[in-house]
Amino acid sequence: MSKSVLSVLAAVFAVCAFSAETIKLPPPQKEGGTPLFAALAQRRSMRSYAMEQLSAQELSTLLWAGFGVSGAGDRRTAPTAVNRREYTLYALLADGTYKYLPQDNALEKVCAEDLRGLAGGNVKAPVYILLVADLKRAANAEYAAIDAGYISQNLYLAATALKLGSCALGGFRRNEMDMTTLRTKLKLADDQKIMLSQAAGKIK
Ligand SMILES: Cc1cc2nc3c(=O)[nH]c(=O)nc-3n(C[C@H](O)[C@H](O)[C@H](O)COP(=O)(O)O)c2cc1C
Repeated sequence: MSKSVLSVLAAVFAVCAFSAETIKLPPPQKEGGTPLFAALAQRRSMRSYAMEQLSAQELSTLLWAGFGVSGAGDRRTAPTAVNRREYTLYALLADGTYKYLPQDNALEKVCAEDLRGLAGGNVKAPVYILLVADLKRAANAEYAAIDAGYISQNLYLAATALKLGSCALGGFRRNEMDMTTLRTKLKLADDQKIMLSQAAGKIK
């Protein structure tokens, strides 16, 4: 198949892939990229991004690295205290807001609106990944906060390995009105808490 046909198919896939209610993501990248020790040396919080959307492949790899399924028995890429797996990741994209379904490696649309303005704080990026803890499920609130750190670092390192940028964002939580709107739009239960937003995108 010629390169141009492939790129047309890729563009059609990109449109289809982000218009259905539940979108199956391509398998995440599990090899290659920047090696771990180089990624550790290169990782930085990036605050300036090109606003083009990430590809479905990049998004799949980031979400999987963050808190995807890595083994039988629902084992995950990040550890959680007492193996409670209390986190759900949400991807805030230009065309809507999605819940990551780790078992299916898919995105479920929860809201058709672009909510990125509510989750970015001081950093403007094409994608934000929200780390939402179910505190009823967590071993306790302190462990839930600790568990967020592992997911966040996985996102940082995966972004670095993909030559993308990332930045953990806690500051946006200070805006209570935005937090309340975000919670409502995401249809979060009382026990669910948005612990962190993490920007990702191509570095400008
Ligand atoms: C929990 C947490 C919250 C953070 N919140 C913000 C934030 O709201 N805005 C921001 O620009 N950076 C934020 N950062 C990034 C830190 O400022 C950054 O990690 C620190 O300055 C060290 O820089 P480095 O990550 O490039 O090594 C946050 C980092 C963490 C771990």
